[in-house]
Amino acid sequence: MPDMEQAAREAFAQWRGSADSIVVARAPGRVNLVGDHTDYNDGLVLPMILDRAVYVAARISSDGSHHFWSENYREGVTYSPGQWPKVRPGHWVSYIAGMIQELPPPGPIELLVMGNVPLGAGLSSSAALEMATGLALEALRGKPVPPLELAQIGQRVEHRYAGVKCGIMDQIVSRAGRTGHALFLDCHSLNWEHIPIQSKDTQFLVIDSRIRRQLATSKYNERRAECQKALEYIRASNVAITSLRHVGDHHVKELKESILQRRIRHVISENKRVKAACSAVIHSDWSRLGRIFSLSHESLREDYEVSCKEMDFMAAYAELCPGVFGARMMGGGFGGCTINLVRAGEGPAVAASVTAAYEDKYKQKPVAHIIGPGIEAGCSYD
Ligand code: GLA
Repeated sequence: MPDMEQAAREAFAQWRGSADSIVVARAPGRVNLVGDHTDYNDGLVLPMILDRAVYVAARISSDGSHHFWSENYREGVTYSPGQWPKVRPGHWVSYIAGMIQELPPPGPIELLVMGNVPLGAGLSSSAALEMATGLALEALRGKPVPPLELAQIGQRVEHRYAGVKCGIMDQIVSRAGRTGHALFLDCHSLNWEHIPIQSKDTQFLVIDSRIRRQLATSKYNERRAECQKALEYIRASNVAITSLRHVGDHHVKELKESILQRRIRHVISENKRVKAACSAVIHSDWSRLGRIFSLSHESLREDYEVSCKEMDFMAAYAELCPGVFGARMMGGGFGGCTINLVRAGEGPAVAASVTAAYEDKYKQKPVAHIIGPGIEAGCSYD
């Protein structure tokens, strides 16, 4: 049994006096190789699961109340069914209570959460929490939920209870991602394909700037609204177009505002990059994938304007280091992590140079992590 799973069992026993009849579910965080801000435009994405996960241990409560405990925050809540816990949207409890609302268990539950996905770093700790909670609830209900449906429930919880109008990428990859594979997802058809990564020549290195900007308070929802506005303009003369996925380069000119032109130019070019990246992964063409990383960063910085000077510095500096094929900001933006594609064995040296240069410039030390084999979502019973 993986250590974290055992640790969750032990923590539960300490918290409630025993760990009898618990289920332990896990769901990983993710990185995104390429395809940012495309999922909510029905576009293409190519994420991959992390070797870090959120673990949820749960069972039916013996005293008629819900009890939740976060081992990471060392805090808990108790509340009666039918009430709503008094927490702000996006608080860890809101995701769990939201999942319970959507997938009611047969009675109130005791639920402990712990994990090692860095929180708020753009590595989808919240999607992992939703998926791990969902898997635990499935087990307590005795009714499996198809992976896509569980991902859609998680997305709804994010919209309703955390205030983030996110797309579907994070939840699908957390629930359905496979070790040693990237997941090529078409957010229009909602079909996905597991693309094997022959990684003997390469490593993926994540560097966390430790700049935390909550997605809901950042400009994430604003970007979504801009995409919607651009779509409405285009639909005024092309009613058949239902999302930016179906927009081509010729539509860019139809938009009067240059900001909207740039936003859709990013979406169009990023979708093309995802296709090219898939082929690069299939052929283990790391130089090509590295170039795609660089172009994606440039487009997110210039056209979509979701980067920040610290991420620009980290990506640009990494690309000067020997053995780096490419680097880019990743996820919602405005802080968080870069993903770096590095020649096998060079990861530690690149991590050391980038973190030292960043610390020198910004007086804060980033945290680097070479990604190991991904942890697939799942559940185990006593
Ligand atoms: C966040 C959202 C995702 C996606 C990315 C940007 O992670 O949760 O749905 O939009 O940002 O690609």
